[in-house]
Amino acid sequence: MPILTIESTCDETAAAVMDDQCRVLGECIATQEALHERFGGVVPEVAARAHLERILPVIDTAIRQAGISPGAIEAIAVADRPGLAGSLLVGVIAAKTLAIAWEKPLVAINHLHAHLYACQLASDEVVYPCIGLVVSGGHTSLYHCTSPLDLEYLGGTIDDAAGEAFDKVATMLSLGFPGGPAVAKLAETGNRSAYRFPRSMIHEDHFNFSFSGLKTAVRYAIVGPGQQDFSALKIAESVKADISASFEAAVIDVLVNKSRRAIAKYGCPYLIVGGGVAANKHLREKLLQAAAEDGFRVTIAPINLCTDNAVMGAIAWEKIRRSDFAALDLDITPGLQR
Ligand code: KG4
Ligand code: ZN
Repeated sequence: MPILTIESTCDETAAAVMDDQCRVLGECIATQEALHERFGGVVPEVAARAHLERILPVIDTAIRQAGISPGAIEAIAVADRPGLAGSLLVGVIAAKTLAIAWEKPLVAINHLHAHLYACQLASDEVVYPCIGLVVSGGHTSLYHCTSPLDLEYLGGTIDDAAGEAFDKVATMLSLGFPGGPAVAKLAETGNRSAYRFPRSMIHEDHFNFSFSGLKTAVRYAIVGPGQQDFSALKIAESVKADISASFEAAVIDVLVNKSRRAIAKYGCPYLIVGGGVAANKHLREKLLQAAAEDGFRVTIAPINLCTDNAVMGAIAWEKIRRSDFAALDLDITPGLQR
């Protein structure tokens, strides 16, 4: 029997119905990009209220698409960590309510583990044990993964996440929200060495990241120290492109370098990479190049499973196989970093 998975950690409301071979029978995603665009970032209260409006229609659509009745569902899975508190609450209360009403077991999913599991879904081989890199709007973390559910945190960002840095640079260049795809597009026409932006901690022997210095360097390249207002600035398109390309190159250098270092240290045959920033074309190319040079294998989440979705919630099957179910008093864990 298939499972129903629910995702509402940030600003996408998503549900999917999948069988035990992880085949997608039904899927629905309602994105909130248009709601948050004018704020230049996700506004937690706006996100929570939009989830509240959409969660049941999204679940209903996924189930109808699968052409099954609720009785035919094996379990209900929901991402309970990490994420925005108000957003998580909506998904978790919906899942718990359906679990009790339909008399189904409940499964709690770690959203970061699910981002990495998207790589397993795309691979014909078992990709574990491996090094896992999560690069999203909220997280930039490296893990040593011995199975889909056994992950040792090696390090992560001490300030901004990689995606957050993309979004902030996009705001500085008036490129809209979410900024990652816009910066990446503009970067294609820019000179990657026009600006020598910092690659914080790139050579340090640990797995932490820092992107706030890079963000400040970009800011100074645009306005100079002390100036606050970007909105009135008229920046030539070619300058925007050079800044985007040089910024993107700096982020990618750090991500690739730390990942290779983790692979070497832990002797893993595989690198897996998930999260919204993993959709970045240049990052994908550089990771493949590093893998070819160093002799490891890399599986990057397919583009449609990089940003938030409910299909990666297929990791719930791994928990079901371990009889690892959640109780009806399941709470959310918003601030989890690891
Ligand atoms: O995984 P995700 O959907 O949400 C979180 O769990 O945070 O990631 C969203 C992030 C945003 O910051 C967005 O700007 C970034 O992923 N992103 C990209 C690209 N596509 C999305 N960053 C760089 N290049 C891209 N092509
Ligand atoms: Zn995510």
